[in-house]
Amino acid sequence: MITTMKEILEMAEKGGFAVSAFNTSNIELTRAIIDAAIETETPVIIATSEKAIDYAGIDCLSKVVHSFGEKAPIPVALHLDHGKSLESVVRAIRYGWTSVMIDASDRPFEENVEITRKVVQIAHAVGVTVEAELGRLKGIEDYVSVDEREAFLTDPDDAKRFVEETGVDALAVAIGTSHGAYKFKGEPKLDLKRLEEIRDRVNVPLVLHGASGVPGELVDGINELGGDIKGARGVPDDELREAVKRGIRKVNADTDLRLAFTYAVRRFLKENPAVFDPRKILSSAMDEIKRVAIHRIKVLRPDLE
Ligand code: G3H
Ligand code: 13P
Ligand code: ZN
Repeated sequence: MITTMKEILEMAEKGGFAVSAFNTSNIELTRAIIDAAIETETPVIIATSEKAIDYAGIDCLSKVVHSFGEKAPIPVALHLDHGKSLESVVRAIRYGWTSVMIDASDRPFEENVEITRKVVQIAHAVGVTVEAELGRLKGIEDYVSVDEREAFLTDPDDAKRFVEETGVDALAVAIGTSHGAYKFKGEPKLDLKRLEEIRDRVNVPLVLHGASGVPGELVDGINELGGDIKGARGVPDDELREAVKRGIRKVNADTDLRLAFTYAVRRFLKENPAVFDPRKILSSAMDEIKRVAIHRIKVLRPDLE
């Protein structure tokens, strides 16, 4: 069934686990994500970026997610990921998104507060959940100085003020993750102490972006099959488990599903050189995406492992 992200996050809070938000832009990703959630009997958030909406078309993407989500025997939220403007957020709400992120994290604090507050006012009037972001995502070792690091990672006192002043339902925090497949050069580590400090001051569910694990077997597999993604590195499962213990309740992953798709397609085509039926090629991709999604769902749910 399709529901709001607020309802799903309340389940996560009660159960002491984190919910996965997986990005989709097509039928295959959507089916594989929902199948993984059904198999693990876990609520799931289907996230769509503005680029994904441009790629698939807003009406089409909404119908695809609603079509699979409404039939699913588990709660599914359709979420706008990194909405950059009021227009983008309102359009998503108009087309049936049950949750929106307004990402003004690249703007000064007061501007971020102002636009987030506006989005909260509009979205809450129609029962839509709102996520916002404070701090900038950048890998921990990408900071050139301690001062720069302090300026980019989420400040716990600012987080408290931001949540109080905006009335937002969930807050994305910067604690050392970054988007994409190349997150760490050295030891992959999150700023868990900072997370604890934020948790102590903030009473809404916390969200971790840029949280793909970038599984070694997928990276190696892709490279062995002719790809070139050397040096790709993600967030280890154990760091995610620690983050969940410290109050992270929503964990975003897009890159892992892209890697699963690419690996499966490369492998299938190599093993089946005579096949040219897209349905067969994409079915193998769905199986691999589902496998990777199930692994992630279990990492975030201590009771399932
Ligand atoms: O947070 C970023 C997501 O991975 C979305 O990426 O804008 O290329 O769809 P995208
Ligand atoms: P990854 O690039 O680590 O998958 O992060 C995705 C994300 O944060 C989407 O909002
Ligand atoms: Zn993100």
